[in-house]
Formats: sequence, C-alpha cells, structure tokens
Amino acid sequence: MAKKSKDQKKTSRKSGKRIFVGLDKDGNPPDFPYVTTASSSIHNEGLFAAKKIPKDTYFIQYLGELVPKKESTLRGIDQYDVARESNEGSVYIFDLDGKRDLDGNFDWNIARLANHSCRPNCEAQDDDGEIWFVALRDIKKGEELTFNYGYALEHWEEHPCRCGTDNCIGYIVRKEDRKKLRKILKECTAKL
Ligand SMILES: C[S@@+](CC[C@H](N)C(=O)[O-])C[C@H]1O[C@@H](n2cnc3c(N)ncnc32)[C@H](O)[C@@H]1O
Ligand SMILES: [Zn+2]
Repeated sequence: MAKKSKDQKKTSRKSGKRIFVGLDKDGNPPDFPYVTTASSSIHNEGLFAAKKIPKDTYFIQYLGELVPKKESTLRGIDQYDVARESNEGSVYIFDLDGKRDLDGNFDWNIARLANHSCRPNCEAQDDDGEIWFVALRDIKKGEELTFNYGYALEHWEEHPCRCGTDNCIGYIVRKEDRKKLRKILKECTAKL
C-alpha cells in the first residue's frame, strides 16, 4: 500500500465539545491535489481524478464530525428530509463503528461527493480510525472516483443504481449480497 505523506498525518480538532476529524489546528481542511468535483452522469455531483492516481494511493480522507450513533441517526433523518424536499443533497453519514459515525455533511468534505459503483475504482479504508479512499487500480485523469457503498441487502429496492458499468446489478448492495440479490431479481421477473 502507498503510504500517506507526513503532512497527511492524523489530525482531529475539538471545537467546544465537537470533534472534527481531519482539519488542521486552524480548522482548515487539507488540500487533496488528486481530486476535483464535477457534475456526474451517475448522480448530481461526483468526485473526479484531477490527475493520474497510481494504484494503492491514499488520495483523500473522508472528513467530518465525530458523532455518537444516536445523534448521527437523527442527523441522517434530517439530511434525508432536506434532500427529499429540495431535491438536492443527500445523506452524508459514514458508518464508523458500533458506537460512532462520521457526519460528513460539510462543504469542506468533498469526499462526500463520491458516488457508488458496482465496478468501483476505489475503496474506503479505515486507517486507524480515519477513513481514506484508496485507488484499487491506476486511475486516469478525468475518471469519476467511485467506491462500493456496501449497503446491506435489506431495503435494496430503495437504492436503485445508475452506475452504468457492465457489472451493474441495478441496485446498490454490498459485494457479499450481489448473488442473493440476483436470485431475488430472477424470482421477481419469473412472477411477472
Ligand atoms: C453521499 S451522496 C453522493 C454524492 C451525490 N452525488 C451528491 O451530489 O450529493 C449519496 C447519494 O448519491 C446518490 N448515488 C450515489 N451513487 C449512486 C448510484 N450508483 N446510482 C444512483 N444514485 C447514486 C444516491 O442518491 C445516494 O443517496
Ligand atoms: Zn451499479
């Protein structure tokens, strides 16, 4: 694995009782030179390679506020309601562990714009409590940066996938559940 550079070392900043992950001591996000944002053919806005990204590079950290599960559930509901009413935005809560989540609903967290793909070119890795996106292969300048959202099979119908890849199964589910979903879809078709 390519290692992170020294200026990307672990940072978290307490503001009052709030804990922001990845910001520097002045509350600013780091610069992530490998990425840029643009309109996406998958959904609304997406994250794109600003230059060639070599395989195994940790190229952007998912920044945000560390929140307990209970609080993040409430925030997730609020974000969902806002997105539904305005037809803009989305839910930007990243599942960390059994106790805490990362609320990435901040303009300075551009990693929040990464869309899902059934044939992703990146994956999200937990690196000692930090979430980093890592290139799964060499990525060309201009390619959209995608990862597998890893949604459980439950409620699959609520998450149609528009990744457009040859591997697309039509819904956003984690890798382990693709086989089961294929079976369900086959049964649904047979009933028609
Ligand atoms: C964290 S946001 C990703 C950024 C989003 N494109 C935006 O502009 O805010 C997650 C949302 O993006 C949409 N999305 C991401 N990947 C998708 C895909 N493969 N197919 C359809 N919608 C997708 C879904 O609405 C999902 O709830
Ligand atoms: Zn897909």
